[in-house]
Amino acid sequence: MIDNKIDRNLRDIWPILVDEYDQPIMIAKRIGEKMEDKIFKEILLTEEQINDICVRMGNEITKAYENNERPVIFLGLLKGCHPFMSDLLKNIDLKLEIDYMDVSSFFGGTKSVGEVQILKDMTMSVTNRTVVIVEDIVDSGKTIEKVRELLMFRGAKSVEVATLIDKPEGRTIDLKPKYIGTTIKKAFILGYGLDYNEYYRNLRCIGIPRDSIIEE
Ligand code: IMP
Ligand code: MG
Repeated sequence: MIDNKIDRNLRDIWPILVDEYDQPIMIAKRIGEKMEDKIFKEILLTEEQINDICVRMGNEITKAYENNERPVIFLGLLKGCHPFMSDLLKNIDLKLEIDYMDVSSFFGGTKSVGEVQILKDMTMSVTNRTVVIVEDIVDSGKTIEKVRELLMFRGAKSVEVATLIDKPEGRTIDLKPKYIGTTIKKAFILGYGLDYNEYYRNLRCIGIPRDSIIEE
């Protein structure tokens, strides 16, 4: 009843206080303001756009490996791969295996420091296996290259890369991911797995943070 007096597009986001006769007396300040609004100055990929990318990449990867002799191993690079790995794999219509590795090249902050460290190794054997590395973003390419070299050294049959985002301008080595969600200009971005000092991985979309977030 009260709802009918309130503009349709405001009904879900504004709490309404009513008097004893159930008449609206006040529309309070918007509650539960989305964290995204406070963090981003520009949104690059919305939830819907990310979903569309996962569907498209899932189909592409399904087609590429539907006749593969053995199931492909999808190797997620923690922690940034987590939401993307989950959404991408839901769209891959194949019998497959998953494993994870934690490899760090950032150590907090916004700049890659070059040295790549393996913090947690995978548990499966890759000998003679087709491996697809799943990454949130490829910047310099050093992280991926280090992991790719290691997997080839361990006897993998082939190693390809599926990344949600490619930042080719940051590349310092010759590396082109086979499966790319989208390409962006050089910028530090956050959300959907991508962090700043371990924060903001839980945001549903991806964007450029406000300056105040980075200076904090
Ligand atoms: P690369 O070794 O320079 O390619 O760095 C890749 C890793 O750095 C990614 O897996 C991310 O964890 C991190 N990274 C690169 N660019 C960004 C960014 O814009 N925001 C957050 N993390 C990033
Ligand atoms: Mg990463």
